[in-house]
Amino acid sequence: MMKPSLLFALLCLLQISKLGFCLKEANKDKNRVVSVTDFGAIGDGKNDDSQAFLKAWESVCERGSRNTKFLVPPGKTFMLKPLAFVGPCKSSSISFSIRGNLVAPGYTWPVGRYPTWISFDSINGLVVSGGGTIDGRGSLWWGKGHTRPSAMHFNGCNGLRMYNLRHLNSPRNHISLSCSKNMHLWGLRLIAPGDSPNTDGIDISNAIGVDIRDCIISTGDDCIAINGGSSFINMTRIFCGPGHGISVGSLGENGEFATVEEVRVKNCTFTNTQNGVRIKTFQNGSGYARKISFEDINMVASENPVIIDQKYNNHGSKNGRLNSYQSCHLTSSLGEARSKSVNGKGVKVSDVRYTRIHGSSASDQAITLNCDADLGCANIVMDHVNMVSATSGHKVFASCNNAHGSYVSSLASCLTKG
Ligand SMILES: *[C@@H]1O[C@H](CO)[C@@H](O)[C@H](O)[C@H]1NC(C)=O
Ligand SMILES: *[C@@H]1O[C@H](CO)[C@@H](O)[C@H](O)[C@H]1NC(C)=O
Ligand SMILES: *[C@@H]1O[C@H](CO)[C@@H](O)[C@H](O)[C@H]1NC(C)=O
Repeated sequence: MMKPSLLFALLCLLQISKLGFCLKEANKDKNRVVSVTDFGAIGDGKNDDSQAFLKAWESVCERGSRNTKFLVPPGKTFMLKPLAFVGPCKSSSISFSIRGNLVAPGYTWPVGRYPTWISFDSINGLVVSGGGTIDGRGSLWWGKGHTRPSAMHFNGCNGLRMYNLRHLNSPRNHISLSCSKNMHLWGLRLIAPGDSPNTDGIDISNAIGVDIRDCIISTGDDCIAINGGSSFINMTRIFCGPGHGISVGSLGENGEFATVEEVRVKNCTFTNTQNGVRIKTFQNGSGYARKISFEDINMVASENPVIIDQKYNNHGSKNGRLNSYQSCHLTSSLGEARSKSVNGKGVKVSDVRYTRIHGSSASDQAITLNCDADLGCANIVMDHVNMVSATSGHKVFASCNNAHGSYVSSLASCLTKG
């Protein structure tokens, strides 16, 4: 069969008078750039540009050529209602270039129907970048009960690359990553007020192989949260604060079976955060959090710099986050963990290594290892973990319950051998 582009060229050449047009069209195809303005997007920040974006997406997704580019042009602000960019697409690599700005509508919507503002589903090889700003207009939502939408959700997006974007004021968490492998995020700024509810920076669940680096995250909840079904997650040079720190968990809510392993947090700074590096699990759950390391971490007046809480209880205050698990319909193997609901005796915490944690603690209790009496925490290793109080004249200390492991040059004499 003749390739469509070849057929086009032939038809074109038969009409010699339109030669200029032919050349222009051929050129366009070579660049493979699809701008949303070609499909009627206005970009005045008020008009609803959703349909134009979806039409442009359809066109991009149907092109077979590699490196097809979806362009949000610079200098304009596009208002989008809740919408989903859905694959699979023909190309194995699609660039989604946000050079202009995106804003959420100036009103709220039924979250049951649209739990996410902008979602990306089942798109492999997606590259989201461009230097633009994404504004979730969260302040419209924050005062209004618990149910609020996430701003962006990437589900089933293997090989995602996301970089060089500014993302403000999500109604709930800014970015969710789920049911995907091999994702790289860097150079992101995620910003919301320190008192905005559940505005996590990045939530990860059922993901394998995630690398996040060089990001500035200032929000009202966890800067990054690693939830069940996740492994091989690296975070490097993250500046967190204000916010609730980098958290593994919470795991095991509502008796769930949840597992997280192979997590590395490296060269991160926590400034005026409620927590620094945290592992939190529910007593009723089951599963494990293990092989986790925190290395070269700087605390600046963090309230709970180092904390393991195996008796986490959020008193229902975070139920707005539950549906970050909802859409794991893509891969059976990755999503398997969440469907097993075991009558849990707790989530096991083991093989956690803290190396060179320094800086200041806003509270006197700089280290809290609050482990379950039956399960305990095993093989907790502290190597050069030392902090000072942010309040002059105060001394900091560590508190351990059922925490076993070892320490070197660290403020952790409450750890018991094991
Ligand atoms: C995480 O870091 C480890 C050790 O540096 C490395 O072997 C691994 O490939 C990294 N994983 C990802 C997903 O970047
Ligand atoms: C982490 O910080 C240490 C100490 O400041 C430095 O030697 C190392 O190069 C840094 N590594 C990365 C990956 O940023
Ligand atoms: C744990 O599970 C039991 C039985 O399902 C339930 O009654 C109890 O409220 C749960 N406790 C917590 C802390 O969630």
